[in-house]
Amino acid sequence: MKIDALTIFPDYFAPLQLSLLGKAQERGIVEFGIHDLRDFTTDNHHSVDDTPYGGGAGMVMKPEIWGAALDTVMTHESDLIILTPAGRRFNQRMAEQFASASHLVFACGRYEGIDARVGEHYAKENFRVHEVSIGDYVLGGGEVASLVMIEAITRLLPGVLGNPDSIVEESHAQDGFLEYPNYTKPPMWRDIPVPEILLSGNHAAIATWRAEQAKKRATEQS
Ligand code: ADE
Repeated sequence: MKIDALTIFPDYFAPLQLSLLGKAQERGIVEFGIHDLRDFTTDNHHSVDDTPYGGGAGMVMKPEIWGAALDTVMTHESDLIILTPAGRRFNQRMAEQFASASHLVFACGRYEGIDARVGEHYAKENFRVHEVSIGDYVLGGGEVASLVMIEAITRLLPGVLGNPDSIVEESHAQDGFLEYPNYTKPPMWRDIPVPEILLSGNHAAIATWRAEQAKKRATEQS
C-alpha cells in the first residue's frame, strides 16, 4: 500500500519510522510519502491560508495550493481522505475498508480547514473523496488524526502484525468491539488475583467468560 500525506508540518509524521510501521516499511508492505504543502506555494511568504469569505474567526486553507499539491499524487486508484471534525466518524469497519485500498492520500488541514471546493473538485472529477473525523472534538489539525487512521489501517495489512490472530479476534468482536480484560503473570499482583477461570485450562468456559466480560464493558461504556 502507498500512503501519501500532505501537511504544513511534515515532522508530525516522524513516528511512522517507529515500531510496527517502521518494520512494515522495511519489508515493503507500506510506503509513505510525506509532502510539505509549503513547497506548492508561489508567494514570498509561502502563505497557505487566507481570511474566510462571509467573515468569521480564523483562516481557511487556499484551494490553489491544495490543488497543486494533490495533482502531483492523486490518480484514479487513490482514495483521498480529508481530515475534518465535520467528517464521517472513523471506526474499525472503515479501517478495514481502507486496508484493502492501494493508495491513500491524507489531506491534513489546519486552522478552520481547507476551502470546501477542494473536496468538491476531486469528487466532481470522479476521484474517491472521503471527509473523515476521528471523534467529536476539535484538534489543531489533521496530522494527529491521520496518524491515528494510518496506525489503525496499516496494522490490518497482511504481514504487519506478528500474530494475525489478533485481527481475527477483533473482527469477530465487531459490533460491541470492546475487548475483554487481559492478564499475564504473576497470578497475584498487589493482592489482585487473575480471575480463576483463566487458569482452568477450560477453553470453552474461558471463551464464554471473555464474551461476557466484553459485553459487560461495552454496556458500561455506552
Ligand atoms: N481536524 C480537527 N479536528 C479533527 C478531528 N476530530 N478529526 C479529524 N480531523 C480533525
